[in-house]
Amino acid sequence: TYPAKLRVVEVGPRDGLQNESAAVPVCTRAALVGMLAAAGAKTIEVGSFVSPKWVPQMADTADLLAMLPAMAGVSYPVLVPNLKGLEQALATGKVGEIVVFGSASEAFSRRNINCSVDESLERFGPVMAKALEHGLRVRGYVSCVLGCPYEGEVAVTAVVRVAAALAGMGCYEVSLGDTIGVGTPLKARRMVEAVAGALPVDRLALHFHDTYGQALANILACLDLGVSVIDSAVAGLGGCPFARGATGNVATEDVVYMLQGMGIETGLDLARLCEAGAMISTALGQETNSRVARARLSV
Ligand code: HMG
Ligand code: MG
Repeated sequence: TYPAKLRVVEVGPRDGLQNESAAVPVCTRAALVGMLAAAGAKTIEVGSFVSPKWVPQMADTADLLAMLPAMAGVSYPVLVPNLKGLEQALATGKVGEIVVFGSASEAFSRRNINCSVDESLERFGPVMAKALEHGLRVRGYVSCVLGCPYEGEVAVTAVVRVAAALAGMGCYEVSLGDTIGVGTPLKARRMVEAVAGALPVDRLALHFHDTYGQALANILACLDLGVSVIDSAVAGLGGCPFARGATGNVATEDVVYMLQGMGIETGLDLARLCEAGAMISTALGQETNSRVARARLSV
């Protein structure tokens, strides 16, 4: 049976805009976040406190946070790779939730955060402890859960190990990232089933990129396992700068359209989401990657 409602985590302002070759002005980022909140988004991943040399697109995240209004029930999580990032996030006074990000693949871990998987888990320990001490909530990512741009196949046991480690450290939720969108439905389902053997399935989120056009099918294949959170990006923005060829996350508009059609509540307003997607696509000078948004424009 399918869930009656699902939480959708909007990652467009971070996962989407981190990958644009031209930096997006901070006021455009703020306008996008505002439109997403107006569409009903309750969790909006707005940016990262990472090295500006590695990801210049996210360099203004502190300025962005300063521009965002505090809204009841809306949280603005940010990615944090280490203590330096956490200190910057805390200094804004505006962050209630951080996200640490690990990988199931050794090669991707090195390319993305310049350390091995075990070193990353060791590094997250003090970050988590300090974050929890300051009353922040911590979410965790596992990247490359269905394949790696450098290693190819990734063992499900590696995914389970990293997911369990993040949950064990205190992440309230672990998001499973198909970073390069290579997964297919049965493979996705088996991977989620395996992770659900190690931690409660209601603490798992699906973070599927749509590079090979499989993301909605992969989500659907996992929905009756008890997963209750989907990550998506408005207009299907994004990719990862350290995973060449990876395109955006599954489009939020497409996820919401599918779930609405299945009678699953998300609390999101499709028309307003499409407006947010249209605004950012115009600002980027790109056509939207959302099939639903494109279809609605043509009628
Ligand atoms: P490093 O070079 O090993 O770090 O990078 P370091 O500690 O040796 O420091 C080197 C320099 O960076 C120093 O500056 C530090 O101060 C500075 P310098 O002395 O050279 O002037 N530095 C920082 N500056 C700002 N904020 C910080 C910070 N830390 C160090 N937090 C590091 C290691 C992790 C910092 C680097 O590799 C990095 O920033 N990587 C960013 C990776 C990233 O953001 N990737 C994209 C997000 S992951 C993703 O998209 C996948 C996901 O969507 C899920 C999925 O789809 O699978 C989440
Ligand atoms: Mg991603």
